[in-house]
Amino acid sequence: MSAAKGVREDRLWQRHADMAKLGGTPKGGVNRQALSAEDAAARNLLATWAEARGFSIFTDAIGNLFVQRAGTDAKAPPVMSGSHMDSQPTGGRFDGMYGVLAAFEALEALEDAGVKTRRPVMAVAWTNEEGSRFQPGAMGSAVFAQRYRLDEMLKVKDWKGVVLKDALAETLKAAPAPMLDGPPGFPVGGYVEVHIEQGPRLENARKTIGVVTGIQGSRRYIVTIEGDEAHAGTTPRAARRDAYAAATRLASALYEATTDEDDTLRFTIGRVEVLPGSPNTVPGKVSFTIDLRHPDNAVLDDREKVLETLLVEKTKPCTARLERVTNVPPTYFDPEVIDLVRAKAQGLALSNMDMPSGAGHDAMHIARLCPAGMIFVPCERGISHNEIENATPQDLAAGTRVLVEVLEELANR
Ligand code: GLV
Ligand code: MN
Ligand code: MN
Repeated sequence: MSAAKGVREDRLWQRHADMAKLGGTPKGGVNRQALSAEDAAARNLLATWAEARGFSIFTDAIGNLFVQRAGTDAKAPPVMSGSHMDSQPTGGRFDGMYGVLAAFEALEALEDAGVKTRRPVMAVAWTNEEGSRFQPGAMGSAVFAQRYRLDEMLKVKDWKGVVLKDALAETLKAAPAPMLDGPPGFPVGGYVEVHIEQGPRLENARKTIGVVTGIQGSRRYIVTIEGDEAHAGTTPRAARRDAYAAATRLASALYEATTDEDDTLRFTIGRVEVLPGSPNTVPGKVSFTIDLRHPDNAVLDDREKVLETLLVEKTKPCTARLERVTNVPPTYFDPEVIDLVRAKAQGLALSNMDMPSGAGHDAMHIARLCPAGMIFVPCERGISHNEIENATPQDLAAGTRVLVEVLEELANR
């Protein structure tokens, strides 16, 4: 039996349903934020399945969780696949989780088909990809790839002031796994991540497989504006330094400055905090996040300069500062891996198209370590980062069949 024939659509679909109970929301999505009790529960469930199949599991100092199926050459760097199990606060059941479960299904399919590989094949669940609770996102993969420093990430606080080091310790206590010695990172022979597209292009084009060529560049910022708290009923306009009024002036100028003709630039203000948050006090402090993305780094550089200028111009008489939290340049996947994904999709008679990724993925960091690529499958109406996110069992299985064939080939190189 070929490894692709070992992929079982029903098993993969059932595993999604089982995982969706952990942090499940009334609308059918999940709230399983990084290093929460729900994240720990997902880790335990994956570990239980791994143990039942005789795969080994281990974790590292940032909490990335690895499941390994042995190869015939124990010294050869493994081929790896995976994604993340954390979710947005109002997330769907497929974003990230599909990549982890497809990788695990690939291990099971190789096992069921009795296929031996030279390199070990690993499924990985990277810690904190979403970055909605702890910033920056794609943290586990970035630490693994030595893009971010472990000691700095351990100090990061969530919006409530919880320190990541403490949340990680709690998580690993609740979901224990053997710990790798030393800082995260080890040689990897190749990396392929599968994911739902999170946009409408595949569905509109009626294609099953997206052959992902790269990932657009992305930057995140926190803007902080300071004014003075004052009485809402008595303070004349001229005497006010209203931080929220300044924030709205800045925000509307920024929306305008990031509206490009070809609709390629992506600009989002996703979180706003107004302090002290009292109806009858003029706000003294406002902070908000900016998520900015484009395939061309030069465009991002240019818009960042505009952002800095508007920050000063639009917030007077308040003061404003800008902190850049992340700067991930565009990723270009390995041409051989891209060709291999396309060839395997064609070999399995699956309709496919080349496409870049608008969303960020852990693959953007791992691509700096080894030949890497990604496989997309459609999701309903392109909706993601939403509880109603949906995909079909058939498409999820199709992406996994392509994955297992690519992994098998890379694992024998
Ligand atoms: C990942 O979810 C991203 O923000 O692209
Ligand atoms: Mn994701
Ligand atoms: Mn996401």
